[in-house]
Amino acid sequence: MILLVDSLGSTVVFSFTASLGRAVDGCAMQEMITTCNPGKVIVFGGDGFCGWPTALHLSELGHQVIIVDNLSRRAIDIELGVESLTPIRSIGERINTWSALTGKEIKFHNIDISTEFAELLELLMTEKPDTVVHFAEQRAAPYSMKSAKHKSYTVRNNLCGTNNLLSAIVESGLDIHVAHLGTMGVYGYGTAGMALPEGYLNVYLKTDEGEMVEQEILYPTNPGSIYHLTKSQDALMFQFYNKNDKLRITDLHQGIVWGTQTAQTSRDERLINRFDYDGDYGTVLNRFLMQATVGYPLTVHGSGGQTRAFININDTVKCIELAVNNPPALNDGVQIFNQMAESYRLIDLAKMIADRTGCQISHVPNPRNEADENDLIVKNDKFKGLGWEPSSLADGLLQEVEEITKRYSSRCDISKIPCESTWTAKHSPGRPSMKVDAAE
Ligand SMILES: NC(=O)c1ccc[n+]([C@@H]2O[C@H](COP(=O)([O-])OP(=O)(O)OC[C@H]3O[C@@H](n4cnc5c(N)ncnc54)[C@H](O)[C@@H]3O)[C@@H](O)[C@H]2O)c1
Repeated sequence: MILLVDSLGSTVVFSFTASLGRAVDGCAMQEMITTCNPGKVIVFGGDGFCGWPTALHLSELGHQVIIVDNLSRRAIDIELGVESLTPIRSIGERINTWSALTGKEIKFHNIDISTEFAELLELLMTEKPDTVVHFAEQRAAPYSMKSAKHKSYTVRNNLCGTNNLLSAIVESGLDIHVAHLGTMGVYGYGTAGMALPEGYLNVYLKTDEGEMVEQEILYPTNPGSIYHLTKSQDALMFQFYNKNDKLRITDLHQGIVWGTQTAQTSRDERLINRFDYDGDYGTVLNRFLMQATVGYPLTVHGSGGQTRAFININDTVKCIELAVNNPPALNDGVQIFNQMAESYRLIDLAKMIADRTGCQISHVPNPRNEADENDLIVKNDKFKGLGWEPSSLADGLLQEVEEITKRYSSRCDISKIPCESTWTAKHSPGRPSMKVDAAE
């Protein structure tokens, strides 16, 4: 098979072997046939919100899936005194249920990839995966800004985890494609009037002789939290390991994920995906829909003029499938895709939900250090070039979330809704000023 899209958006030809499902150059082909175990994917962070549905989706497609997770996300729920709105089952029950329903095995390893290098390396050497999907990071911006301790944990966990994974692959000597989940947030939310390109920017520099030379650089990052800072630094690690060790890497700059269930997780209640609504981990659209269900005014931070990129969880798993099936060729640079469907201003989202449900909107202080208004136009041509058709909010997917929030509304603890974590001591938590009584 021949593909005509490369990581930089220009047109080149990739050879693509049907049996291995990965792009190779001619001389590497024979070596790969003998060393690869086709279709084997390790999902790091596979117990999480994006990782669990991805693991099931890839398993359904016939990949041999192994989940690695240190269950730190579940421990953070205990630390914060919150629970997923949906009653997620233990990882053991999840995997056993999937196996009983489908006959497909998913292995699980409890490894902290930021500290347990030897175990990580041994796993890679034993399993020899074709691809690793890397979700295993502390992913909440508000959590990363809670205190010096949380900043330090986020930096340690995310940067050591990513470095360990990359250096373990080098140490293993195996040719393993890394598909990493980064975030649109690394770009900051100002775009100087241009559409955000997919990772790279062509610039013209004036030499000392006055000549203009063209260079391609990483799009400058402008992280808005410690969490986003770790994702910006991940991007530099990818450039280094790609240059130095020729690792094949795809970095997916994902928008805010919304929705809960996929075709696989909705098959049985024991497979249900997690749904975070609290002020640290809840993502904005899911939070708004949940707030509307329990009669809590939609907490819009400041004016709500902030524009964000969004993607539904069903599209997340499709995009990962495409990334797994389309690794960069052996000597290619880091492949960067923008994994988002559409952008919305937060106030427009709130109004859309208020119109559907009759709920109130409350403009609360913005706990984040960010501009009150921004534009965000994003290119997502690379996934579309691979055949992806993004779904939009208008496609009826909101209903799925509304059904979930209604079914489990009795599990909601409304005291956990406001964003209490502030970016600086001068900022205030995003609490509504009025007393709120949740609906029955
Ligand atoms: N959810 C979103 O809206 C969103 C948006 C953009 C990007 N992303 C990225 O996607 C990835 C997954 O996000 P998510 O929403 O599924 O997060 P999540 O917190 O639900 O899942 C992350 C999983 O990784 C595990 N983990 C964390 N550190 C680990 C470590 N050191 N070793 C082993 N396991 C570890 C956690 O226990 C958890 O199960 C993150 O890297 C995040 O930055 C998510």
